Amino acid sequence: MGDRNIDLTATEIFEIITGFIGTQILYTASEIGVFDALAGHGEKKTAEELATELSTDVDAMERLLNSCVSLHFLNKSLIADENAQYSNTEASCKYLTSGSKTSMRGLIHLNKVYSYPLMGNLDSAVREGKNQIPRTFGATSHELFANLYSDEAGVTTFVSGMHGMAPLSTKAVVNAFDLSQFNTACDFGGGSGALAYEMSRTYPGMSIKVLELPPVVKVSNDFKPDDAGQLNVEFVAGDFFVDELPETDLFIFSVIFNDWPDDKVARLLQKVHSALKPGGAILIAESLYNDDKAGPVHPALRCMLMLAFTEGKTRSGREFRFLAEKSGFSDVKVKYTDGIHDVILARKY
Ligand SMILES: C[S@@+](CC[C@H](N)C(=O)[O-])C[C@H]1O[C@@H](n2cnc3c(N)ncnc32)[C@H](O)[C@@H]1O
Repeated sequence: MGDRNIDLTATEIFEIITGFIGTQILYTASEIGVFDALAGHGEKKTAEELATELSTDVDAMERLLNSCVSLHFLNKSLIADENAQYSNTEASCKYLTSGSKTSMRGLIHLNKVYSYPLMGNLDSAVREGKNQIPRTFGATSHELFANLYSDEAGVTTFVSGMHGMAPLSTKAVVNAFDLSQFNTACDFGGGSGALAYEMSRTYPGMSIKVLELPPVVKVSNDFKPDDAGQLNVEFVAGDFFVDELPETDLFIFSVIFNDWPDDKVARLLQKVHSALKPGGAILIAESLYNDDKAGPVHPALRCMLMLAFTEGKTRSGREFRFLAEKSGFSDVKVKYTDGIHDVILARKY
């Protein structure tokens, strides 16, 4: 524990104080359409051309582009300053343009529209111990999904945002354990289906149902991968708290429990434990705290986001082991990965 007590330098503290500026530069360049305007192969444009195309002030566009260059979101060919041309980096093409299969634009939009304003009320969240949906958006309840899904734009924003994290997580999650003994799986709140499709690619013998709220099932075709026809994935509309569960060998919870408090997590775990036959299992994928909760940084930051956004929190591997065992599961294996999500497998015997 002692080695965690590192003294930050003033420069490191300064970078955290001002880090939001870089965040807003990325959000703005993305939402104004800079990366998409440079998406064509080998496309290079001047600040003036981009300002005309995207209807912005020329000087402000040049400042935005130069800040993107300094943050390595864009390349700049230094011909002469007024004629300098800007182009996407390889990473921007892959992750910041709308047309890319690994685009994180949806994730940027979700964070700009929901997470960023909610985090602006973090002080109130800490005082009240409650999410800031009513204070931030004028909603009458703290219910996350009822508010997010009140119109189709909200559904698309949220599902696209979660889909934007898939390139960072799905491969590590499906490969964390050998799941080849399971013939059927049900992905609880499986969102766009990105994890289910990757699971089906890795385990072609497995048939997977994605259990999702009806508004999400309605938009699920928008996220179908090109190889969906060869994959064994089906969407089922339902509410995992109230509806009967499909018969299956494996229940998957990817980034589900961090939305909910312990009593609701226990309710879901008990429900799936009753629904499973002996030999069945649960797979949990989300960012885990170390057992001492002194890090890593990603789950610690996420825990504060969950405070402002949801009814839930980030948990440690030990806390999940306790919750799973209390609901009757055994042989709980916790695997910390290098990716953004860690993975837990537990059995019903
Ligand atoms: C944080 S997202 C995770 C999505 C996906 N599993 C992933 O890893 O990206 C939580 C998901 O749970 C779904 N969800 C929330 N409440 C639900 C309920 N009562 N029944 C079914 N799905 C629900 C939401 O629609 C949302 O897609």
